[in-house]
Amino acid sequence: MQEALDLIDESADMEVWPDENPPAPEVMREKASTVDGILTNIMDRVDGPLLDAAPRLKVISQLAVGLDNVDVAEATRRGIPVGYTPGVLAKATADVAFALLMSAARRISESERWVRDGQWTLAFHPLRWLGVDVHEKTLGIIGMGQIGLEMARRGRGFDMNIIYHSRSRRPDLEAEYGLVYVDLPTLLAESDFVSLHMPLTPETRHYIGEAELRQMKPTAILVNAARGPVVDSRALYTALKEGWIYAAGLDVTDPEPIPAADPLLTLENVVIAPHVGSASLASRGAMCMLAARNLIAGLEGNPLVRCANP
Ligand code: DGY
Repeated sequence: MQEALDLIDESADMEVWPDENPPAPEVMREKASTVDGILTNIMDRVDGPLLDAAPRLKVISQLAVGLDNVDVAEATRRGIPVGYTPGVLAKATADVAFALLMSAARRISESERWVRDGQWTLAFHPLRWLGVDVHEKTLGIIGMGQIGLEMARRGRGFDMNIIYHSRSRRPDLEAEYGLVYVDLPTLLAESDFVSLHMPLTPETRHYIGEAELRQMKPTAILVNAARGPVVDSRALYTALKEGWIYAAGLDVTDPEPIPAADPLLTLENVVIAPHVGSASLASRGAMCMLAARNLIAGLEGNPLVRCANP
């Protein structure tokens, strides 16, 4: 991470926001009014009012693959390139999604809480902590981008049958990895695990709501390592509580951070990680370097290494 800051420092005068919390919008606008480039993360809102306040802006560099906090269309309209960090975090994020899938299926987090609680008093019980198998089950992937593909590859390693639904069909991947494209109702009805890997857009907000959860098997597990709002969290709570589905593994929630009083936290059949999909040393390091390179390229008027504008 320091390496990325050093790289930027060599090419530009740099101010680093000193707080872990993002700047308030008015502070962000004031800071943006004098700069040529900004490096943002998913907590920073980059919208029309911010761009209005930033007449010199030549580049926006987002330290993430997700861009739901950035109005890319508005930036494009103003001729401002938007950098992002696809690819370098796909494997790490799929690792976390698969870890959540495994943990929810085999009740790892739940049973670990029980052990720490001092409740493990009988060495072995043939009928205690039974979960569901992962191997040879059907994994339904929604969103077949780089992270969705990495999830499919992990599923293949566990001898899973992989079906997918996505904005665009990928015949190349179907042939190479034995994936089968299906419509959404089929995916929901046939999957033992439904894993979400689509971006958050106005179209995908609450993509999984009551109607979709009711179409899933009562033994199914929902995994979300995409963005919290793609799932209607109130409907998910009811689904988990009333047994419409078996369990869920979430790396993302709506809102983030999840409030301590959120009803989801009262349930045992949900595993929640604090948005750590890309949080490996190597992946975050690579994201930082790519974000730095995008920023510098934009400042120097060169094409960005990874540019999100259409
Ligand atoms: C992303 O890249 O969009 C993640 O959610 C944060 O790393």
